[in-house]
Amino acid sequence: MDNGELIRLALEAREAAYAPYSGFRVGAALLTKDGKVYKGCNIENAGYTPTNCAERTAFFKAISEGERDFVAIAVVGGSGDLPKNYAFPCGVCRQVMMEFCEPKTFRVITAISEKEYMDKTLEEMLPHGFGPFSL
Ligand code: THU
Repeated sequence: MDNGELIRLALEAREAAYAPYSGFRVGAALLTKDGKVYKGCNIENAGYTPTNCAERTAFFKAISEGERDFVAIAVVGGSGDLPKNYAFPCGVCRQVMMEFCEPKTFRVITAISEKEYMDKTLEEMLPHGFGPFSL
């Protein structure tokens, strides 16, 4: 699957975002080694702290279905109808990626549109990370 298609799926996932408090709608599409895609959106909460980010929604859906091998994640986010800026994964989401992904090969595709995106490795997004390999 090419980057554009994965971004298109992240934009699709963003449509389901539940963000009544921030109005900041995020979508993610997580690609497995087998070519399956798990979509996720942010899910906010009146208690604020139970809010779940789009990236972690995608990861937790996949992990809970038994998936363990991941290739890339595309992330889009913003307040308006369409994303205008890059919405980079928060530190907590990067740490969750570190738990399940190979830092040198897993790719984090942060996108504004299907054509405008940054494609980085997890290691670039979270240098000197702490992961299962650290213990
Ligand atoms: N958010 C994400 O979904 N992913 C991130 O990596 C950063 C932030 C969400 C959480 C909250 O619903 C909204 O964006 C504003 O912080």
